[in-house]
Amino acid sequence: MAKYIINGGSALNGKVFLQGAKNAVLPLFAAALLTEEEVVLHNCPDLLDVDNMARILQSIGADVERHGETIKIRGNLNSYEIPYGLAKELRSSIFLLGSVLARRKKAKVAYPGGCDIGLRPINIHLDAFRELGVKIEEKYGYIYCDASNMQGSHINFDYPSVGATENVMLLAATAKGITTISNAAREPEIEGLQDFLNLMGAKVSGAGTPFITIEGVESLKGTEYTTIPDRIVAGTYLMACAICGGEVELIGARPAHLHALLSKLSKSGCKIKVNNDKIYIKADRRLLPFERVETQPYPGFPTDLQAPLCALASVACGNTVVIENIFETRFKHVPELIKMGARIIVSGSVASIRGVERLRGAEVTAMDLRGGAALVLAGLNAKGTTIINEVHHIERGYENFDAILSSLGADIVKV
Ligand code: EPU
Repeated sequence: MAKYIINGGSALNGKVFLQGAKNAVLPLFAAALLTEEEVVLHNCPDLLDVDNMARILQSIGADVERHGETIKIRGNLNSYEIPYGLAKELRSSIFLLGSVLARRKKAKVAYPGGCDIGLRPINIHLDAFRELGVKIEEKYGYIYCDASNMQGSHINFDYPSVGATENVMLLAATAKGITTISNAAREPEIEGLQDFLNLMGAKVSGAGTPFITIEGVESLKGTEYTTIPDRIVAGTYLMACAICGGEVELIGARPAHLHALLSKLSKSGCKIKVNNDKIYIKADRRLLPFERVETQPYPGFPTDLQAPLCALASVACGNTVVIENIFETRFKHVPELIKMGARIIVSGSVASIRGVERLRGAEVTAMDLRGGAALVLAGLNAKGTTIINEVHHIERGYENFDAILSSLGADIVKV
């Protein structure tokens, strides 16, 4: 298993060209199955999760070819079954339920895997499908669906689930009639999916607001699309600069997707400038505490940046309270940060953090993707050497993480 070895203390300086968003591209892979025609996706990050999704598509008959950051998909489906072995690797396999059902009117999908950050049930997806007339049976770890009598309907989500919003958009795009979703998730990745589906010939509107309308069309066609930049990766590099000091410019960003983080970083004493698709950060002093940060659905503070924020708050000059409202067990980075000298007490969904002057190197283990990224940030700050085990978790979401950080001046190697 690969590890990172980090000698902390270097400032970060330079430019980062942002990768395409993992969480945007994965539902696009599912959407590509809604047509037999070729779909061309640009700006696809080179990540394990994307490779796993490609393998799942191939296992049900699709052709998937990568040429650099471009991926071509042809959805020649010859199966409607997503086997357990592949589905357990990736949470996003659940999107295939919507698109395979739309194409084949039948689907059999194993319960999805993904980061171990909470219970992650799929009841909101399945209740919405039932609302659209899909018959669902759950047995032996598989979900069996029959959509032969599917019909557009009104769906009201109890909670604005990102995945369920995307799945309903995928299923309803070619269903008979009109489907509306109220209390839909508003994340930028949902707008990305709407834009892509509309280029394929769908009639979807309202993404980015809590009310989405999907007017079902007969069929969809092939198209070409460029994936939006990864706001969580962008946020992670900004926070890396904030914890190390230095000056970093992100290129190819969408600053509007990062308002919640940018305002926290400004208040903590970092200088931030935005200009079209560029975000510049300068950090030249110890961070002020963040006081209170509560994760919320977009446009609130993203749960995916909660772990890196804990690393920053660990070295701020004062106290921060972090409340995780989205996932039940997303504080697995905390015991590892404590090994590095952080002073954090967790009680349920609340982490109380008292900033120390500086962290110290230790051997730690990445437990999940974003928690692993937080340990890298902590290691970049720490005095001495930090060894991070199980970095495959981190590489599920960050392309060339060690190489990009090295190019900015960090002392990090992968062994
Ligand atoms: N939930 C339910 N029932 C459902 C669906 C969700 O109870 O049917 C709960 C979840 O258990 C969780 C909360 O609702 O507590 C939020 O889940 P949501 O469905 O919004 O998240 P997701 O679609 O599973 C996506 C991202 C996550 C990101 C969340 C929140 C992808 C592939 N994953 O997950 O990304 O944290 O939205 O923004 O898009 C990551 O990239 O590290 C990551 C975990």
